[in-house]
Amino acid sequence: MAYQECINCKTQYNVDEIIYFCKKCGDILEVKFDFEELSLKLKDSDWKKIPLSVWRYRDFMPIHEASPKVTLNEGGTGLHLSQRLGESVGLKHLYVKNEGENPTGSFKDRGMTVGVTKALELGARHVICASTGNTSASLAAYAARAGLNCTVLIPSGKIAYGKLAQAMIHGAKVLQVRGNFDQALEFVLKLAEKHKSIYLLNSINPFRIEGQKSLGYEICEQLNNDPPDRIIVPVGNAGNISAIWKGLTEFHRLGFIKTLPKMTGIQASGSAPIVQAIKTSSDKIIPIEKPETVATAIRIGAPVSWRKAITAIRDSHGTAETVTDEEILDAQKTLARIEGIFVEPASASSIAGLKKLINNGVVDKDERVVCITTGHGLKDPDTAIKQSEKPIEVDADISAIENALGLKTPRIILAR
Ligand code: F0G
Repeated sequence: MAYQECINCKTQYNVDEIIYFCKKCGDILEVKFDFEELSLKLKDSDWKKIPLSVWRYRDFMPIHEASPKVTLNEGGTGLHLSQRLGESVGLKHLYVKNEGENPTGSFKDRGMTVGVTKALELGARHVICASTGNTSASLAAYAARAGLNCTVLIPSGKIAYGKLAQAMIHGAKVLQVRGNFDQALEFVLKLAEKHKSIYLLNSINPFRIEGQKSLGYEICEQLNNDPPDRIIVPVGNAGNISAIWKGLTEFHRLGFIKTLPKMTGIQASGSAPIVQAIKTSSDKIIPIEKPETVATAIRIGAPVSWRKAITAIRDSHGTAETVTDEEILDAQKTLARIEGIFVEPASASSIAGLKKLINNGVVDKDERVVCITTGHGLKDPDTAIKQSEKPIEVDADISAIENALGLKTPRIILAR
């Protein structure tokens, strides 16, 4: 029923073939379904009785019925109505979909649970990825769960400490490449091509995108199938925005939703090839050779899924915008302080982008907006500590503590 299809020349491949690029034109692939068959299957299925989670949508995934799933309970993350944040930017209906609530603390788990399940189905014993941090943390955890060997390539010195700790404790072989993410990705692509026993789980892998599309389904269901006007997403390698759009268009085609949100991608100003292409109405991206940003998760100059992302943004009548490091850090702090949601810098770019687009008059104040926050703040404790007030060290003494708090010692009146 499901098959893989080249996004460019539409050549089709079997869903059980291990292939990352089209053999004819070299472009990337996506999973496609026969919608009539899927509709019939859903009519006979109990999927709506399963709690909100990635695997509620098993019928929508290209996984064989008998395959055991590799899961840590991913998805079902909170869609938080954020009134105080909304008021601060002048918006009545603002929600934060907090993907930091996933098992390893990022949205990557949605893709990894499906990708690693498929890896087992295909008989893989060794999985690999290049990563700015979260993908490596997630793959390391799911590979451990499945009993697979795992290798991750990360840019040396440019991943947040929490993510490095995760990849290490889960037992992955961690290679720190003296180069950036784009170079690391090129190496894993070559390795997977050369050594067929190694299965690649970057977001170029269409089965990962199948898991991540559940983010689009969930937002619809959490809003009673009345989708928001706009979804704002941090963009790095561009898999997530493409996956969310895939989920939304599938729900639309199946008749579950009547409207489609405007997909809005946010990149850090030092790493923004997709924004550049959207703003100049170009059909190609110009890769950034030396991407830079404090939001290391999205420090990417040559996003592999750029074509899918540009299609999502254009087809949905959305837009793309850049934000500076200063705007990102300011948004991170605001979200933590007025909504109680602690996210890593890359995640806060969606909030920073919203603010900028409201100020520019692109986002209307009556719009219902969902901002995706992609990873938990504890992933990058160093950045959080650097921009917060230092703790005050005091003697272990009550009056020293009162002094530090500016509290006066009340005069004690003795009862007669
Ligand atoms: N936000 C966070 C926290 C991320 O880790 C990433 C990507 C993104 C946003 C962008 O998502 O790549 O699908 O456009 N991190 C990847 C990684 C590249 O290796 O962890 P995207």
